[in-house]
Amino acid sequence: MTPYSLAYTLHVLPALIWVGGMFFAWMILRPATVSELDTPARLKLWPEVFRRFFQWVWVAVVVLPLSGIGLLHLRFPSLETAPAYVHIMMGLYLVMLALFLRVQLLQLPQLRRAVELRDWPAGGAALGRIRRLVGFNLLIGLALVAIAAARPTF
Ligand code: HEM
Repeated sequence: MTPYSLAYTLHVLPALIWVGGMFFAWMILRPATVSELDTPARLKLWPEVFRRFFQWVWVAVVVLPLSGIGLLHLRFPSLETAPAYVHIMMGLYLVMLALFLRVQLLQLPQLRRAVELRDWPAGGAALGRIRRLVGFNLLIGLALVAIAAARPTF
C-alpha cells in the first residue's frame, strides 16, 4: 500500500460512515420509527441512536481533515495550487462540523433533558430541530461527495 492509497482509504472510509450514517438515519430509520413507535418510545430511542452514531462521527471528524491534509500534501505542491474543489471540500467540512457540534452540544442535551422529565412536547420539538439540522448536513455531505468525485474544474 502506498502512502497515497493509505491516506485515500483513511479519507473515504470516514466520509462513507458519516454521510452514509446520516442517510440511513434520515431516510430509513426515521420514517420506520414514525410508523411503528409511539412518541415516548421514539423520543427515548433517538438519544441512544445518536449516542452510538456520534462516537463514529467524532472519529470521522478527526480522521477526515488529517487524511485530507495528507492527501493534499501528497498530491499537490501547496494549498494554493490545489484545485477549487479541494478548497470547497475544506469549507463544506467546516460547515458540516459546525452543524454536528450544534446538534451534539446543544440540541442533544435538550432532547435528553426532555426525555428525563418525560416532557414529550419539548422532546418532540428538540427532535424536530435535530432532524432539520441532520437533514441539512446530509444534503451538504452528499453534495460534497459528488463534488469530490466529479472534480469539477472551474
Ligand atoms: C479538511 C477537510 C478536508 C480536506 C483537506 C480534504 C482533502 C481532500 C483531498 C486533497 C482529496 C484528493 C483530491 C484528488 O485526489 O483530486 C480528497 C478526496 C476526497 N474527499 Fe476530501 N477533504 C476534506 C474533507 C472531506 C469531507 C468532509 C468529505 C466527505 C464527507 C470528503 C470526501 C472526499 C472524497 C469522497 C474524496 C475522493 C474523491 C475521489 O477521488 O473520487 N472530504 N479530499
